[in-house]
Amino acid sequence: MDHFIYQNGVLHAEDVAITDIAKEVGTPFYVYSKATLLRHFQVFDESLEGMEHLVCFAMKSLSNIAVLKLLGQAGAGIDVVSIGEYLRAKAAGISGDKIVFSGVGKTREEMRIAIEGGIRQFNVESEPEMEALSEVAVSLGAVAPITIRVNPDVDAKTHAKIATGKKENKFGIPISRAREVYARAAELDGLKVVGIDVHIGSQLTDLEPFRLAYRKVAELTETLRADGHQITRLDLGGGLGIPYTRSNEVPPLPMDLGQVIREEVGHLGCEVEIEPGRLIAGNSGLLVSEVIYVKEGEDRRFLIIDAAMNDLLRPAMYDAHHDIEPVIEPAAGAEKTNFDVVGPICESGDTFAKGREMTDLNPGDLIAFRSAGAYGAVMASEYNSRPLIPEVLVDGDKFAVIRRRPTYEEMIARDIVPEWL
Ligand code: LLP
Repeated sequence: MDHFIYQNGVLHAEDVAITDIAKEVGTPFYVYSKATLLRHFQVFDESLEGMEHLVCFAMKSLSNIAVLKLLGQAGAGIDVVSIGEYLRAKAAGISGDKIVFSGVGKTREEMRIAIEGGIRQFNVESEPEMEALSEVAVSLGAVAPITIRVNPDVDAKTHAKIATGKKENKFGIPISRAREVYARAAELDGLKVVGIDVHIGSQLTDLEPFRLAYRKVAELTETLRADGHQITRLDLGGGLGIPYTRSNEVPPLPMDLGQVIREEVGHLGCEVEIEPGRLIAGNSGLLVSEVIYVKEGEDRRFLIIDAAMNDLLRPAMYDAHHDIEPVIEPAAGAEKTNFDVVGPICESGDTFAKGREMTDLNPGDLIAFRSAGAYGAVMASEYNSRPLIPEVLVDGDKFAVIRRRPTYEEMIARDIVPEWL
Protein backbone atom coordinates (compact mmCIF):
# COMPACT_ATOMS: atom_id res chain seq x y z
CA MET A 1 0.00 0.00 0.00
CA ASP A 2 1.25 3.49 -0.75
CA HIS A 3 0.03 7.06 -0.87
CA PHE A 4 0.79 7.92 -4.49
CA ILE A 5 -2.52 8.25 -6.26
CA TYR A 6 -4.19 10.41 -8.88
CA GLN A 7 -6.42 13.15 -7.50
CA ASN A 8 -8.27 15.39 -9.97
CA GLY A 9 -6.21 13.97 -12.80
CA VAL A 10 -2.81 14.69 -11.23
CA LEU A 11 -0.53 12.20 -9.48
CA HIS A 12 -0.20 13.16 -5.82
CA ALA A 13 2.15 12.18 -3.04
CA GLU A 14 -0.32 12.06 -0.17
CA ASP A 15 -2.17 15.39 -0.67
CA VAL A 16 0.54 17.20 -2.59
CA ALA A 17 0.42 17.38 -6.38
CA ILE A 18 3.66 16.19 -7.93
CA THR A 19 3.38 19.11 -10.34
CA ASP A 20 3.60 21.56 -7.41
CA ILE A 21 6.79 19.95 -6.14
CA ALA A 22 8.27 19.97 -9.64
CA LYS A 23 7.52 23.69 -9.96
CA GLU A 24 9.37 24.43 -6.76
CA VAL A 25 12.39 22.09 -6.91
CA GLY A 26 12.74 21.38 -10.65
CA THR A 27 13.27 17.91 -12.09
CA PRO A 28 14.46 15.25 -11.61
CA PHE A 29 13.84 14.62 -7.91
CA TYR A 30 12.96 11.88 -5.44
CA VAL A 31 9.83 12.21 -3.34
CA TYR A 32 8.95 10.10 -0.29
CA SER A 33 5.67 9.72 1.54
CA LYS A 34 5.90 9.91 5.31
CA ALA A 35 2.66 8.00 5.83
CA THR A 36 3.87 5.15 3.62
CA LEU A 37 7.24 4.91 5.34
CA LEU A 38 5.59 4.80 8.76
CA ARG A 39 2.96 2.33 7.66
CA HIS A 40 5.59 -0.07 6.32
CA PHE A 41 7.61 0.19 9.51
CA GLN A 42 4.51 -0.43 11.60
CA VAL A 43 3.47 -3.57 9.73
CA PHE A 44 6.88 -5.04 10.43
CA ASP A 45 6.70 -4.01 14.05
CA GLU A 46 3.25 -5.56 14.39
CA SER A 47 4.37 -8.74 12.64
CA LEU A 48 6.64 -9.50 15.61
CA GLU A 49 4.18 -8.47 18.29
CA GLY A 50 4.37 -10.63 21.38
CA MET A 51 8.07 -11.35 20.89
CA GLU A 52 10.77 -9.10 22.26
CA HIS A 53 12.01 -7.49 19.07
CA LEU A 54 13.60 -4.55 17.30
CA VAL A 55 13.00 -3.65 13.66
CA CYS A 56 16.31 -2.18 12.46
CA PHE A 57 15.80 -0.25 9.24
CA ALA A 58 18.55 -1.13 6.75
CA MET A 59 19.54 2.42 5.94
CA LYS A 60 21.62 1.38 2.97
CA SER A 61 18.28 1.43 1.13
CA LEU A 62 17.51 5.08 1.96
CA SER A 63 19.86 7.06 4.15
CA ASN A 64 18.48 10.59 4.32
CA ILE A 65 18.62 11.67 7.96
CA ALA A 66 15.09 13.10 7.86
CA VAL A 67 13.81 9.61 7.03
CA LEU A 68 15.99 8.05 9.74
CA LYS A 69 14.69 10.53 12.27
CA LEU A 70 11.11 9.78 11.29
CA LEU A 71 11.59 6.03 11.66
CA GLY A 72 13.64 6.46 14.83
CA GLN A 73 10.81 8.44 16.39
CA ALA A 74 8.48 5.58 15.52
CA GLY A 75 10.74 3.22 17.47
CA ALA A 76 12.97 1.77 14.76
CA GLY A 77 16.54 0.69 15.26
CA ILE A 78 18.98 1.12 12.38
CA ASP A 79 21.20 -1.36 10.56
CA VAL A 80 24.40 0.31 9.32
CA VAL A 81 27.22 -1.00 7.15
CA SER A 82 29.81 1.74 7.35
CA ILE A 83 30.86 4.41 9.78
CA GLY A 84 29.39 6.96 7.39
CA GLU A 85 26.02 5.30 7.90
CA TYR A 86 26.64 5.10 11.64
CA LEU A 87 27.33 8.83 11.82
CA ARG A 88 24.24 9.57 9.75
CA ALA A 89 22.15 7.52 12.15
CA LYS A 90 23.68 9.43 15.05
CA ALA A 91 23.01 12.73 13.27
CA ALA A 92 19.38 11.66 13.03
CA GLY A 93 19.23 11.26 16.79
CA ILE A 94 19.35 7.46 16.91
CA SER A 95 21.07 6.27 20.07
CA GLY A 96 23.92 3.78 19.84
CA ASP A 97 21.98 1.07 21.63
CA LYS A 98 19.59 0.99 18.68
CA ILE A 99 22.29 0.68 15.99
CA VAL A 100 23.57 -2.64 14.70
CA PHE A 101 26.73 -2.66 12.60
CA SER A 102 26.81 -5.16 9.70
CA GLY A 103 29.25 -5.57 6.82
CA VAL A 104 32.18 -7.77 5.79
CA GLY A 105 34.91 -5.17 5.88
CA LYS A 106 34.69 -3.05 9.01
CA THR A 107 37.99 -1.30 9.62
CA ARG A 108 39.60 -0.85 13.03
CA GLU A 109 38.94 2.86 12.81
CA GLU A 110 35.24 2.20 12.17
CA MET A 111 35.14 -0.21 15.11
CA ARG A 112 36.74 2.38 17.38
CA ILE A 113 34.25 5.12 16.48
CA ALA A 114 31.29 2.79 16.96
CA ILE A 115 32.51 1.50 20.32
CA GLU A 116 33.18 5.02 21.57
CA GLY A 117 29.85 6.30 20.27
CA GLY A 118 27.86 3.34 21.57
CA ILE A 119 26.61 0.34 19.65
CA ARG A 120 23.93 -2.29 20.16
CA GLN A 121 26.00 -5.00 18.53
CA PHE A 122 28.49 -5.75 15.79
CA ASN A 123 27.43 -8.44 13.36
CA VAL A 124 30.83 -10.03 12.84
CA GLU A 125 31.45 -11.75 9.52
CA SER A 126 34.84 -13.45 9.77
CA GLU A 127 37.49 -14.68 12.17
CA PRO A 128 40.04 -11.98 11.29
CA GLU A 129 37.34 -9.35 11.90
CA MET A 130 36.57 -10.95 15.25
CA GLU A 131 40.22 -10.84 16.35
CA ALA A 132 40.55 -7.22 15.23
CA LEU A 133 37.38 -6.16 17.02
CA SER A 134 38.52 -7.76 20.24
CA GLU A 135 41.86 -5.96 20.03
CA VAL A 136 40.22 -2.62 19.40
CA ALA A 137 37.76 -3.12 22.26
CA VAL A 138 40.50 -4.15 24.69
CA SER A 139 42.57 -1.10 23.72
CA LEU A 140 39.60 1.07 24.66
CA GLY A 141 38.91 -0.82 27.86
CA ALA A 142 35.57 -1.91 26.43
CA VAL A 143 33.75 -5.10 25.62
CA ALA A 144 32.03 -5.24 22.24
CA PRO A 145 28.69 -7.07 22.01
CA ILE A 146 28.62 -9.33 18.95
CA THR A 147 26.59 -11.72 16.95
CA ILE A 148 28.35 -13.81 14.34
CA ARG A 149 26.83 -13.86 10.89
CA VAL A 150 26.46 -17.40 9.66
CA ASN A 151 26.17 -18.35 6.03
CA PRO A 152 23.52 -21.06 5.95
CA ASP A 153 24.13 -22.08 2.31
CA VAL A 154 20.53 -21.46 1.34
CA ASP A 155 19.44 -20.44 -2.15
CA ALA A 156 17.46 -17.20 -1.78
CA LYS A 157 16.09 -17.55 -5.34
CA THR A 158 16.67 -13.93 -6.18
CA HIS A 159 18.90 -11.94 -8.56
CA ALA A 160 22.48 -13.29 -8.33
CA LYS A 161 23.90 -9.86 -7.50
CA ILE A 162 21.79 -9.57 -4.35
CA ALA A 163 21.86 -13.17 -3.09
CA THR A 164 24.11 -13.50 -0.05
CA GLY A 165 23.37 -16.79 1.67
CA LYS A 166 25.14 -19.36 -0.54
CA LYS A 167 28.54 -20.71 0.35
CA GLU A 168 30.11 -19.07 -2.72
CA ASN A 169 29.06 -15.63 -1.43
CA LYS A 170 31.50 -13.54 0.61
CA PHE A 171 29.16 -13.15 3.58
CA GLY A 172 29.30 -14.69 7.04
CA ILE A 173 31.11 -17.77 8.27
CA PRO A 174 30.10 -21.21 7.00
CA ILE A 175 27.46 -22.51 9.37
CA SER A 176 29.31 -25.82 9.46
CA ARG A 177 32.22 -24.06 11.23
CA ALA A 178 30.09 -22.04 13.62
CA ARG A 179 30.92 -24.06 16.76
CA GLU A 180 34.66 -23.56 16.49
CA VAL A 181 34.29 -19.87 15.65
CA TYR A 182 31.98 -19.28 18.60
CA ALA A 183 34.43 -21.17 20.82
CA ARG A 184 37.21 -18.81 19.70
CA ALA A 185 34.97 -15.75 20.23
CA ALA A 186 34.32 -16.84 23.81
CA GLU A 187 38.07 -16.79 24.47
CA LEU A 188 38.55 -13.20 23.34
CA ASP A 189 38.56 -10.64 26.13
CA GLY A 190 37.15 -7.79 24.07
CA LEU A 191 34.01 -9.60 22.92
CA LYS A 192 30.72 -10.56 24.45
CA VAL A 193 28.75 -13.01 22.35
CA VAL A 194 25.04 -12.18 22.44
CA GLY A 195 23.60 -14.03 19.49
CA ILE A 196 23.53 -15.17 15.89
CA ASP A 197 23.01 -13.19 12.68
CA VAL A 198 21.82 -14.32 9.27
CA HIS A 199 20.85 -12.51 6.06
CA ILE A 200 20.43 -14.48 2.86
CA GLY A 201 19.63 -11.88 0.24
CA SER A 202 17.31 -9.17 -0.99
CA GLN A 203 14.04 -8.99 -2.95
CA LEU A 204 12.98 -12.48 -1.85
CA THR A 205 9.47 -13.26 -3.00
CA ASP A 206 9.28 -16.75 -1.54
CA LEU A 207 9.24 -17.50 2.19
CA GLU A 208 10.80 -20.95 1.94
CA PRO A 209 14.43 -19.77 1.85
CA PHE A 210 13.78 -17.67 4.98
CA ARG A 211 12.26 -20.69 6.67
CA LEU A 212 15.22 -22.93 5.80
CA ALA A 213 17.72 -20.36 7.01
CA TYR A 214 15.86 -19.67 10.26
CA ARG A 215 15.51 -23.38 10.94
CA LYS A 216 19.27 -23.76 10.64
CA VAL A 217 19.76 -20.81 12.97
CA ALA A 218 17.36 -22.37 15.50
CA GLU A 219 19.30 -25.64 15.43
CA LEU A 220 22.53 -23.75 15.83
CA THR A 221 21.11 -21.83 18.79
CA GLU A 222 20.44 -25.08 20.62
CA THR A 223 23.88 -26.46 19.77
CA LEU A 224 25.68 -23.32 20.90
CA ARG A 225 23.68 -23.16 24.10
CA ALA A 226 24.64 -26.77 24.81
CA ASP A 227 28.26 -25.66 24.27
CA GLY A 228 27.77 -23.08 27.00
CA HIS A 229 27.21 -19.89 24.98
CA GLN A 230 24.55 -17.41 25.98
CA ILE A 231 22.49 -16.92 22.84
CA THR A 232 19.85 -14.35 23.67
CA ARG A 233 19.45 -12.44 20.43
CA LEU A 234 18.81 -13.48 16.84
CA ASP A 235 19.31 -10.99 14.02
CA LEU A 236 17.35 -12.48 11.14
CA GLY A 237 18.37 -9.96 8.46
CA GLY A 238 16.24 -8.24 5.85
CA GLY A 239 15.32 -9.24 2.35
CA LEU A 240 11.55 -9.39 2.01
CA GLY A 241 10.67 -8.41 -1.56
CA ILE A 242 8.16 -5.86 -2.81
CA PRO A 243 5.83 -5.76 -5.82
CA TYR A 244 7.54 -3.79 -8.60
CA THR A 245 4.59 -4.05 -10.94
CA ARG A 246 0.94 -3.36 -10.45
CA SER A 247 0.01 -6.76 -11.81
CA ASN A 248 -1.34 -9.55 -9.68
CA GLU A 249 2.10 -10.47 -8.36
CA VAL A 250 1.86 -10.15 -4.59
CA PRO A 251 4.93 -11.19 -2.60
CA PRO A 252 4.43 -12.41 0.96
CA LEU A 253 3.64 -9.72 3.53
CA PRO A 254 5.62 -8.86 6.68
CA MET A 255 2.87 -10.60 8.64
CA ASP A 256 3.65 -13.83 6.76
CA LEU A 257 7.36 -13.44 7.46
CA GLY A 258 6.56 -12.76 11.12
CA GLN A 259 4.64 -16.02 11.22
CA VAL A 260 7.61 -17.93 9.81
CA ILE A 261 9.86 -16.32 12.42
CA ARG A 262 7.45 -17.28 15.20
CA GLU A 263 7.24 -20.85 13.93
CA GLU A 264 10.95 -21.38 13.43
CA VAL A 265 12.58 -19.51 16.31
CA GLY A 266 9.70 -18.48 18.60
CA HIS A 267 10.32 -21.34 21.04
CA LEU A 268 13.88 -20.21 21.79
CA GLY A 269 12.93 -17.22 23.93
CA CYS A 270 15.39 -14.98 22.08
CA GLU A 271 14.99 -11.32 21.34
CA VAL A 272 14.52 -11.01 17.58
CA GLU A 273 15.91 -8.33 15.27
CA ILE A 274 15.10 -7.91 11.62
CA GLU A 275 16.74 -5.57 9.12
CA PRO A 276 14.26 -4.66 6.38
CA GLY A 277 15.25 -1.93 3.94
CA ARG A 278 13.44 -2.31 0.65
CA LEU A 279 10.05 -3.16 2.07
CA ILE A 280 10.00 -0.03 4.20
CA ALA A 281 11.48 2.39 1.67
CA GLY A 282 10.83 0.94 -1.79
CA ASN A 283 7.21 1.76 -2.41
CA SER A 284 7.46 4.88 -0.26
CA GLY A 285 9.28 6.80 -2.98
CA LEU A 286 9.00 8.00 -6.56
CA LEU A 287 11.59 9.37 -8.95
CA VAL A 288 10.04 12.20 -10.94
CA SER A 289 11.49 13.25 -14.26
CA GLU A 290 10.61 15.43 -17.25
CA VAL A 291 10.52 14.42 -20.89
CA ILE A 292 13.15 16.36 -22.85
CA TYR A 293 12.61 14.96 -26.34
CA VAL A 294 10.66 12.31 -28.15
CA LYS A 295 12.98 10.91 -30.79
CA GLU A 296 11.90 8.69 -33.66
CA GLY A 297 14.45 5.92 -34.22
CA GLU A 298 14.37 3.66 -37.27
CA ASP A 299 12.16 1.08 -35.61
CA ARG A 300 11.40 2.54 -32.19
CA ARG A 301 10.52 5.70 -30.32
CA PHE A 302 12.82 6.99 -27.64
CA LEU A 303 11.52 8.94 -24.72
CA ILE A 304 14.54 10.97 -23.66
CA ILE A 305 14.10 12.17 -20.09
CA ASP A 306 16.11 14.34 -17.71
CA ALA A 307 16.79 11.52 -15.22
CA ALA A 308 19.52 9.04 -16.01
CA MET A 309 21.23 5.90 -14.78
CA ASN A 310 23.32 7.99 -12.39
CA ASP A 311 20.09 8.99 -10.61
CA LEU A 312 18.44 5.54 -10.59
CA LEU A 313 20.94 2.76 -11.26
CA ARG A 314 18.75 -0.27 -10.72
CA PRO A 315 17.55 -0.82 -14.32
CA ALA A 316 21.10 -0.56 -15.70
CA MET A 317 22.63 -2.66 -12.93
CA TYR A 318 20.06 -5.40 -12.34
CA ASP A 319 17.77 -5.07 -15.39
CA ALA A 320 15.26 -4.01 -12.75
CA HIS A 321 11.72 -3.10 -13.74
CA HIS A 322 10.13 0.09 -12.42
CA ASP A 323 6.59 1.01 -13.38
CA ILE A 324 6.51 4.41 -15.07
CA GLU A 325 3.42 6.61 -14.90
CA PRO A 326 2.58 9.96 -16.43
CA VAL A 327 2.04 12.58 -13.73
CA ILE A 328 -1.00 13.92 -15.57
CA GLU A 329 -3.54 11.10 -15.64
CA PRO A 330 -4.22 9.97 -19.19
CA ALA A 331 -7.81 10.09 -20.44
CA ALA A 332 -9.60 6.79 -20.04
CA GLY A 333 -9.05 4.68 -23.15
CA ALA A 334 -6.21 6.94 -24.40
CA GLU A 335 -4.18 5.24 -27.09
CA LYS A 336 -0.89 3.68 -26.10
CA THR A 337 2.38 3.45 -27.89
CA ASN A 338 5.71 1.76 -27.18
CA PHE A 339 8.65 3.76 -25.91
CA ASP A 340 12.25 3.06 -25.02
CA VAL A 341 12.71 5.26 -21.97
CA VAL A 342 16.27 6.54 -21.85
CA GLY A 343 18.40 9.13 -20.07
CA PRO A 344 20.93 11.60 -21.49
CA ILE A 345 24.05 9.65 -20.42
CA CYS A 346 26.46 8.56 -23.10
CA GLU A 347 26.07 4.80 -22.93
CA SER A 348 23.37 2.46 -24.10
CA GLY A 349 22.98 1.02 -20.62
CA ASP A 350 21.32 4.30 -19.69
CA THR A 351 17.96 2.74 -20.47
CA PHE A 352 15.11 2.56 -17.99
CA ALA A 353 12.70 0.53 -20.08
CA LYS A 354 12.53 -1.00 -23.53
CA GLY A 355 9.35 -1.12 -25.59
CA ARG A 356 7.31 0.10 -22.62
CA GLU A 357 3.67 0.61 -23.51
CA MET A 358 2.59 4.10 -22.44
CA THR A 359 0.13 6.77 -23.44
CA ASP A 360 1.57 9.43 -25.70
CA LEU A 361 4.00 11.79 -24.05
CA ASN A 362 5.53 15.06 -25.18
CA PRO A 363 8.45 17.25 -24.20
CA GLY A 364 7.74 18.98 -20.91
CA ASP A 365 5.52 16.18 -19.60
CA LEU A 366 6.36 14.72 -16.19
CA ILE A 367 6.68 11.02 -15.49
CA ALA A 368 7.11 9.13 -12.23
CA PHE A 369 9.07 5.94 -11.59
CA ARG A 370 7.39 3.90 -8.92
CA SER A 371 9.09 1.82 -6.22
CA ALA A 372 12.14 4.06 -6.34
CA GLY A 373 12.41 4.83 -2.63
CA ALA A 374 14.83 2.00 -1.87
CA TYR A 375 18.25 1.77 -3.50
CA GLY A 376 17.43 4.85 -5.57
CA ALA A 377 18.93 8.06 -4.18
CA VAL A 378 21.53 6.12 -2.19
CA MET A 379 23.03 4.53 -5.30
CA ALA A 380 23.17 7.77 -7.28
CA SER A 381 26.42 9.20 -8.55
CA GLU A 382 27.56 12.32 -10.38
CA TYR A 383 28.51 10.40 -13.52
CA ASN A 384 28.63 12.75 -16.51
CA SER A 385 28.95 15.58 -13.96
CA ARG A 386 25.27 15.45 -13.19
CA PRO A 387 24.77 16.76 -9.63
CA LEU A 388 22.92 14.53 -7.15
CA ILE A 389 19.21 15.24 -7.36
CA PRO A 390 17.06 16.55 -4.50
CA GLU A 391 14.96 14.51 -2.11
CA VAL A 392 11.58 15.69 -0.90
CA LEU A 393 9.47 14.40 1.98
CA VAL A 394 5.70 14.79 1.94
CA ASP A 395 3.50 14.77 5.02
CA GLY A 396 -0.20 15.22 4.25
CA ASP A 397 -0.56 18.50 2.39
CA LYS A 398 2.93 19.81 3.13
CA PHE A 399 6.32 18.97 1.75
CA ALA A 400 9.93 19.77 2.53
CA VAL A 401 13.15 19.47 0.59
CA ILE A 402 15.23 17.08 2.70
CA ARG A 403 18.27 17.27 0.45
CA ARG A 404 18.69 20.17 -1.88
CA ARG A 405 20.13 20.10 -5.35
CA PRO A 406 23.73 21.29 -5.21
CA THR A 407 24.77 24.06 -7.54
CA TYR A 408 27.19 23.29 -10.34
CA GLU A 409 29.68 25.55 -8.58
CA GLU A 410 29.49 23.42 -5.42
CA MET A 411 30.05 20.27 -7.40
CA ILE A 412 33.04 21.67 -9.25
CA ALA A 413 34.54 23.33 -6.17
CA ARG A 414 35.22 19.93 -4.58
CA ASP A 415 38.02 19.33 -7.07
CA ILE A 416 41.43 20.74 -6.25
CA VAL A 417 43.93 21.88 -8.83
CA PRO A 418 47.45 21.58 -7.38
CA GLU A 419 49.57 24.73 -7.32
CA TRP A 420 52.09 23.20 -9.68
CA LEU A 421 49.65 23.03 -12.55
N1 LLP B 1 20.76 -6.61 6.12
C1 LLP B 1 21.88 -6.85 5.42
C2 LLP B 1 23.04 -7.43 6.10
C3 LLP B 1 21.92 -6.55 4.03
O1 LLP B 1 23.02 -6.80 3.34
C4 LLP B 1 20.78 -6.00 3.40
C5 LLP B 1 20.79 -5.64 1.98
C6 LLP B 1 19.64 -5.74 4.19
C7 LLP B 1 19.67 -6.06 5.54
C8 LLP B 1 18.40 -5.13 3.64
O2 LLP B 1 17.81 -5.93 2.68
P1 LLP B 1 16.38 -5.53 2.07
O3 LLP B 1 15.38 -5.69 3.16
O4 LLP B 1 16.48 -4.12 1.59
O5 LLP B 1 16.19 -6.48 0.96
N2 LLP B 1 21.04 -2.51 -4.36
C9 LLP B 1 20.24 -3.70 -4.47
C10 LLP B 1 19.92 -4.31 -3.14
C11 LLP B 1 21.13 -4.63 -2.30
C12 LLP B 1 20.81 -5.25 -0.96
C13 LLP B 1 22.02 -5.35 -0.11
N3 LLP B 1 21.82 -5.80 1.22
C14 LLP B 1 18.98 -3.38 -5.27
O6 LLP B 1 18.80 -2.23 -5.69
O7 LLP B 1 18.16 -4.26 -5.53
